[in-house]
Amino acid sequence: MLDKVQSLLEEISNAKADSEEQIEAFRIRFLGQKGHLKSLFSEFKNVPSEHRKELGQKLNELRDRAKSKVDDLKSNISSHKVKDTDEQPDLSRPGAPADYGSRHPISLVRNEIIDIFSRIGFTVSRGPEIEDDWHNFTALNFPPEHPARDMQDTFFVRNGDTPHDQIALRTHTSSVQVRVMEGGTPPIRTISPGRVFRNEAISARSHCIFHQVEGLYIDENVSFADMKQALLYFAREFFGEKTEIRLRPSYFPFTEPSAEMDVYWGLETETDHRITKGTGWLEILGCGMVDPNVLENCGIDSKKYSGYAFGMGVERPAMLKYGISDIRMFFENDVRFLDQFKTVV
Ligand code: DAH
Repeated sequence: MLDKVQSLLEEISNAKADSEEQIEAFRIRFLGQKGHLKSLFSEFKNVPSEHRKELGQKLNELRDRAKSKVDDLKSNISSHKVKDTDEQPDLSRPGAPADYGSRHPISLVRNEIIDIFSRIGFTVSRGPEIEDDWHNFTALNFPPEHPARDMQDTFFVRNGDTPHDQIALRTHTSSVQVRVMEGGTPPIRTISPGRVFRNEAISARSHCIFHQVEGLYIDENVSFADMKQALLYFAREFFGEKTEIRLRPSYFPFTEPSAEMDVYWGLETETDHRITKGTGWLEILGCGMVDPNVLENCGIDSKKYSGYAFGMGVERPAMLKYGISDIRMFFENDVRFLDQFKTVV
């Protein structure tokens, strides 16, 4: 009987199968109701007790080997199967590209504005978003209680007795002008991009957070004509080389005279009518000659120096450029929106 077991063990280790049917036949031959193991175990009853231990172990081994052989044959067949189908990966194909993020449209437009002004010598400066009253209002010629403060609904952070103690979220990036003038000497030629905050109802057209770029140029003999030329250059770089501008008189506490600049947008389509309120002109920025009071507040001799300043929003040009109709989209960070700027570098 031992010999028989031995030869069956060899048969198991040599067994091969190309199909599930062959495996099943093997299983039945060894492990089935009339298989080798069944008959060997029934013979086992007649084996004399002194051989039982050894033979019992052999039979158990035989059963275990037969079972694991069935498993081996099955897994062999299933791995063959994958190889035979079309699903096998083509290792010569290029890999899946890494999924890069995209720049936010506000960053794209802000960078473009920075780029345009840096080509004519403007540096970039930044200031804090949480600002004191001195830099946001007082130094810019908004005296306490001055009604012009109401032009910009403010988020107050901390009440204080002096302009330096009173803290708010900056309502415009003009605050950075003050910091640059206090910290440097002319000539100063800088732009200040950044986030600003106003306590306004949120709608498709306005938001309580938005972005501005402030510009400042201080030197001897800077004139209104210099400002106009720099702004015309900007408008043509940003909106196209045939762009026309116009300056309308306006009022800001920190500039005198003050103006607002429009670009000619056109009046061909219904949309042109809507966004230009039927005039064809689009307001882009505020500007003016820095008020001598502001220069003096910042420690600059207003007899020797003069300069111009301007400030523009970033959201509106971005909406025009990319055809975005709702300002809230900039702040929702919906990936379906942001993904659309992937190809824009
Ligand atoms: N700070 C103004 C605002 O937020 C924009 C502005 C107007 C800035 C005229 C200037 C300027 O520098 O000269 O509405």
